[in-house]
Amino acid sequence: MTTNETGRPMILVTGATGTVGREVARLLAADRPVRILTRRPERVSVSGPGVEVVPGGYADRDALDRALKGVDAAFLVTNDVSAADDAVFAEAARASGVRHLVKLSAAAVCDPGADDLVTRWQRRNEAVVRGSGLDWTILRPRSFMSNTLSWAPSIRSEGVVRALYASSANACVDPRDVARVAVLALTEPGHRGREYLLSGPQALTAVEQTAQLADALRRPLRLEELTPAAARAQLLTRCTEPVADALMASAERQLAGAKAQVDRTISDLIDRQPLSFRTWAADHAAAFG
Ligand SMILES: NC(=O)c1ccc[n+]([C@@H]2O[C@H](COP(=O)([O-])OP(=O)(O)OC[C@H]3O[C@@H](n4cnc5c(N)ncnc54)[C@H](OP(=O)(O)O)[C@@H]3O)[C@@H](O)[C@H]2O)c1
Repeated sequence: MTTNETGRPMILVTGATGTVGREVARLLAADRPVRILTRRPERVSVSGPGVEVVPGGYADRDALDRALKGVDAAFLVTNDVSAADDAVFAEAARASGVRHLVKLSAAAVCDPGADDLVTRWQRRNEAVVRGSGLDWTILRPRSFMSNTLSWAPSIRSEGVVRALYASSANACVDPRDVARVAVLALTEPGHRGREYLLSGPQALTAVEQTAQLADALRRPLRLEELTPAAARAQLLTRCTEPVADALMASAERQLAGAKAQVDRTISDLIDRQPLSFRTWAADHAAAFG
């Protein structure tokens, strides 16, 4: 096992150019050796004496083996959930002697009413990690508060937010809290074999998020509700039809109230209330111009 002068074991962080992984890498790098696997090394923002970057991705077995060498625990982010990335990673990790995988999954996995294609893929990917023979921890966050960054272009240009089912609530979570839980799971005992549902402190609608963003930006914003047909057409500009249909089914579950439940896991684990959307909005106001 690789350690540095801190004597602490090496942790591999994937997704370190992304929403949660970036924060996981930043928190870990403060006091332990961290290795980052990325196809986009130029996007890595964390640096320091204990930080190593291995260029490459899950499709590059040599890079994966280099990244996993001497690693004790790994944070696993796969965002092409239809792919076999979890299986490829878990097998390489087992072969390298990694002991613990902390996998970023999604809350829908534990919703018995969720049977869309994306959720079925996520369940399969979780099952791969649980069956890997390694210790594992599964993190199942609700929607990230940072998804509202997709509203930034229309907020900047028109002062408008466009959202489907704008009065349906989601107990959205700050990705920084998800990262805090990931770091606990990676570095402290007691989290192996656990599945954590991670929500924010309250269920909010897009109408309410828009009002809180307007407060943070100190200017009025207008909300325009998208029709389901318009929302589906938007999804089809970036997803295949089966994935667009799965995301529409997910939005309909939210409309039916399936994503509004607030969970206590974050406050139980990190000993404070999860961060609110108002705090997230204030901290990210600059991104909305
Ligand atoms: N957004 C939400 O509301 C939400 C809620 C719950 C769960 N989730 C889950 O969170 C996960 C992350 O989603 P996200 O949209 O927030 O993405 P993200 O973490 O912002 O970006 C994806 C990250 O994964 C890494 N990655 C993806 N494929 C890779 C590959 N083949 N090889 C190496 N690295 C790879 C990318 O690294 P490089 O590109 O640098 O290689 C990138 O850093 C997904 O599994 C998603 O289902 C998201």
